[in-house]
Amino acid sequence: MSKQDTHFFNVFSLVIGLLVTITIVLFALARVVASHTQEANVLTEPDYSRNVASRIAEPTREAVAGQDNSALAIKTATSATAGGSAAPAMPKNGTELFEQTCSVCHGQGIAGAPKAGDKAAWAPRIAEGKAVLYSHALQGFQGKTGVMPPKGGRTDMPDDLVKQAVDHMVQMAQ
Ligand code: HEC
Repeated sequence: MSKQDTHFFNVFSLVIGLLVTITIVLFALARVVASHTQEANVLTEPDYSRNVASRIAEPTREAVAGQDNSALAIKTATSATAGGSAAPAMPKNGTELFEQTCSVCHGQGIAGAPKAGDKAAWAPRIAEGKAVLYSHALQGFQGKTGVMPPKGGRTDMPDDLVKQAVDHMVQMAQ
């Protein structure tokens, strides 16, 4: 090895050594800064910890007999609204249920649904009798033009309310 080569290796090793030292110093500095800012402002942030809690929560929850299962209770429309969620208000009558749910399909007659108020589309259905319409609305049914889901998808609705919504649509088509 020539003298020049030795000199080059010495300088090169020195530079590498310096860079490694700077890296370690920066790393340590970042840790110190993070322990003052990140832990205080991020890790203990309520939103952050809530997100972590929801991510590590068990995917399923089971009610256990004899224990307090109140956390599993299905929230009713009123308590959900009180909790600030945007759950739709419980419809008070058939007309409201129609406007909230049935009109999604029956309002414009989409997905093969007979359009509310369309006499020609409703006449043969009304001719089947209310009992058939009621049971098709409650249990759902697959007809020639499409699929009517049970209770229009709102299976949480009482039967009476769904029947009132049927009455309302029948009235609109008369
Ligand atoms: C996802 C779309 C959709 C929603 C929401 C929906 N319907 Fe329907 N409904 C249909 C379709 C499609 C048909 C026609 C099925 C056929 O005849 O092929 C239908 C048909 C009906 C019929 C006629 C049944 C018959 O015997 O001819 C009644 C009554 C009815 N719906 C009531 C309701 C009521 C009440 C609601 C609200 C609670 C509702 N629907 C919500 C899609 C819907």
